[in-house]
Amino acid sequence: TMCLCMIMASCNPNYLRGLKSSLQLADFPSNFLYGTASSSYQFEGAFLSDGKGLSNWDIFSHEAGNILDGSNGDIAVDHYHRYLEDLDLMEDLGVNSYRFSISWARVLPKGRFGNVNMAGIKHYNKLIDALLDKGISPFASLTHYDIPQELEERYGAWLSPKVQDDFRYYADICFKYFGDRVKYWVTFNEPNVVAIRGYRSGIYPPSRCSASFGNCSTGNSEEEPFIAAHNMILSHAAAVRTYRTKYKEKQGGSIGIVMNAIWFEPFTNSSEDKLAAERAQSFFLNWFLDPIICGRYPAEMQQILGSQLPNFQRQEVSEIKLGLDFIGINHYTSFYAKDCIYSTCEQGPGVSRSEGYYLRTAFKDGVPIGETVCYGELNKLNSSVKDFIKDYRRVEYMNSYLASLALAIRNGANVRGYFAWSLLDNFEWTSGYTIRFGLHHVDFATLERTPKLSADWFKQLISYHRSLS
Ligand code: NOJ
Repeated sequence: TMCLCMIMASCNPNYLRGLKSSLQLADFPSNFLYGTASSSYQFEGAFLSDGKGLSNWDIFSHEAGNILDGSNGDIAVDHYHRYLEDLDLMEDLGVNSYRFSISWARVLPKGRFGNVNMAGIKHYNKLIDALLDKGISPFASLTHYDIPQELEERYGAWLSPKVQDDFRYYADICFKYFGDRVKYWVTFNEPNVVAIRGYRSGIYPPSRCSASFGNCSTGNSEEEPFIAAHNMILSHAAAVRTYRTKYKEKQGGSIGIVMNAIWFEPFTNSSEDKLAAERAQSFFLNWFLDPIICGRYPAEMQQILGSQLPNFQRQEVSEIKLGLDFIGINHYTSFYAKDCIYSTCEQGPGVSRSEGYYLRTAFKDGVPIGETVCYGELNKLNSSVKDFIKDYRRVEYMNSYLASLALAIRNGANVRGYFAWSLLDNFEWTSGYTIRFGLHHVDFATLERTPKLSADWFKQLISYHRSLS
């Protein structure tokens, strides 16, 4: 119902103005970062150009049956060649920041086992310079799911501690070549999603799934997601340490991590469900954040998993602790959490049992809470560009998020920026091109970009906020 009312409201010509007044933008800091986001595999294409090595996603998307529409990111939205045109779109929006990821395999086609690909370095130099020319701050992620396939083949990538040396080496090269101009570094985008989808459900590369997980064909050990996560946490720490010891003083930037976050609301008021919500949060978000901030895994994880959870060595504890300057939160939805441990929700020992809280989330009255209702709708495919660009529901969705953000800021939360996913429609992982997240429509046949209503709304919102100060 909520969505429907809002769609009707959108028929009103004062729609955009009305939305703005419901948002307390005055609470946003005047130097707030407004941006759009992208990632290398989802945007760049040019998967074999200029010496780029193959990534795990190149391999995975080419295997039949992995991507819903049989597509891949070979061309994606050709951002590699069209970045200047895309920068014009950003300039038109008035954003002052751009979150993108560097393709590890473009910079180091064979990881640390080969040369630095200078053509790759040159590409990102051009992108960064062009951003700065327009007054847009680059916000660069070192990895956003895609990694050189070489690392997978040599030693099983995230499953081996060796990957820490690769990540440190790669990060060092990025800081060295780009750090004079990039002042915001993200080590990982959503490592929790990589650990869960790569090593538990197996729906992302390297397609490894835990034995207790549904139709799993590899039946690997329940520990794998935790081992992969452990190596990601230590890799993150290695990159942060490299930055702080070798580059920070001279370059003066900051470094952090971006996590996928889901808000878990207790399904009932019972203390069991409240604890279930806390456990769900521990197993999803604090799994990474607690080690990075406090040097240890959440207590609930340690209790439930026991020896299935790797340990940090004494010296590692001090190295990982306080290992970030900011936390990025990718938030799309909220779930109810219900206690399952003593019910039929239980799926088996350790991993699956704990993930049960997440996967088997109860949906009250058949619908998830909050913005999710709009969210599902917002991504439905329409048949013509004309319909595509009237993305009222995306506007509602983003407006409601920014209103919540404003409230949180008013209540003291230290929020520095907001990046809309995404600048353009793009390759949505296993959903291929069937889900469109862009503020701009992309015709995937011609690659033509067309602003949607949401782009116009975002532009007005940014300029309205600027007019306040
Ligand atoms: C956030 C992920 O980082 C991004 O890659 C993805 O496309 C969006 N969520 C939408 O699912």
